[in-house]
Amino acid sequence: MSLDAIDTSIAFGGLKVLTNVSVQVERGRITGLVGPNGAGKTTLFNCLTGVVRPQQGSVRIDGRDISALPLDKRIQLGISRTFQTPRLDLDASVLDAVMLGFYSRHKPSLAASFVSTATRRRHDAQLREKAEALIEQFQLTPNPHQRSGALSLGRLRLLEVARAIASEPQYLLLDEPAAGVDENDRQLLARAIRNAAARNVGVLLVEHNVGFVAELSDHMLALVRGEVVAAGSPHAVVNDPEVVTAYLGGQRVAA
Ligand SMILES: Nc1ncnc2c1ncn2[C@@H]1O[C@H](COP(=O)(O)OP(=O)(O)OP(=O)(O)O)[C@@H](O)[C@H]1O
Ligand SMILES: [Mg+2]
Repeated sequence: MSLDAIDTSIAFGGLKVLTNVSVQVERGRITGLVGPNGAGKTTLFNCLTGVVRPQQGSVRIDGRDISALPLDKRIQLGISRTFQTPRLDLDASVLDAVMLGFYSRHKPSLAASFVSTATRRRHDAQLREKAEALIEQFQLTPNPHQRSGALSLGRLRLLEVARAIASEPQYLLLDEPAAGVDENDRQLLARAIRNAAARNVGVLLVEHNVGFVAELSDHMLALVRGEVVAAGSPHAVVNDPEVVTAYLGGQRVAA
């Protein structure tokens, strides 16, 4: 079971942003994606989630071609993502922000509108409990009714990840979740990512912090100017000469 971009190419105007890129995000595994600024990492995310369509190649979920499916249909199929710049309603409470995650995937059905108010209340109470558990797990705030906007940038990133996990995705795509996050929060984030993979979620992790990605990933790939220059074990990718030159400024990092 996997989410795949197969041989995808994308150009904006005359600018080639992705050239024949393939990536496989397997259920239960963490796939790390690194590359310098402008390498095409977010564009690859957008291609997997349906924000942009590849001019060549396809996107598949568990073998099914979803290249033509819009964003909301892909969410229903179990793809959830976070954004490089958190997109949250800062006036909403932390609790509401996380609960929105549950509803984003499992929209109340027509049938649900016929169930009794008592049943619906019980259902909402269960979701609230789950949301509160996530808020505690991520140590977001001691007060779930606090405005999201009162959280630090690091906590906002964690809140976005918690919301994405709340949608109970099969595939979780994280675009630089650790940027601006302090060491304590980074540990929480790492634990949450590992937990998700342990629950059979396929994780795609984009990060500039190569050490963080290498430590977490089962499999890594490196993009440079829209092309995959290395793929394999974290150790192999981090030590690949092209990656070292393009991304790490010529310095080797141990992994
Ligand atoms: N909608 C768009 N229209 C035109 N050009 C775009 C568009 N989206 C991205 N680009 C260009 O595509 C290239 C790749 O951008 P992308 O955001 O995918 O890179 P990235 O690897 O995520 O970079 P960063 O590490 O800075 O987030 C850049 O040159 C960017 O300017
Ligand atoms: Mg990006």
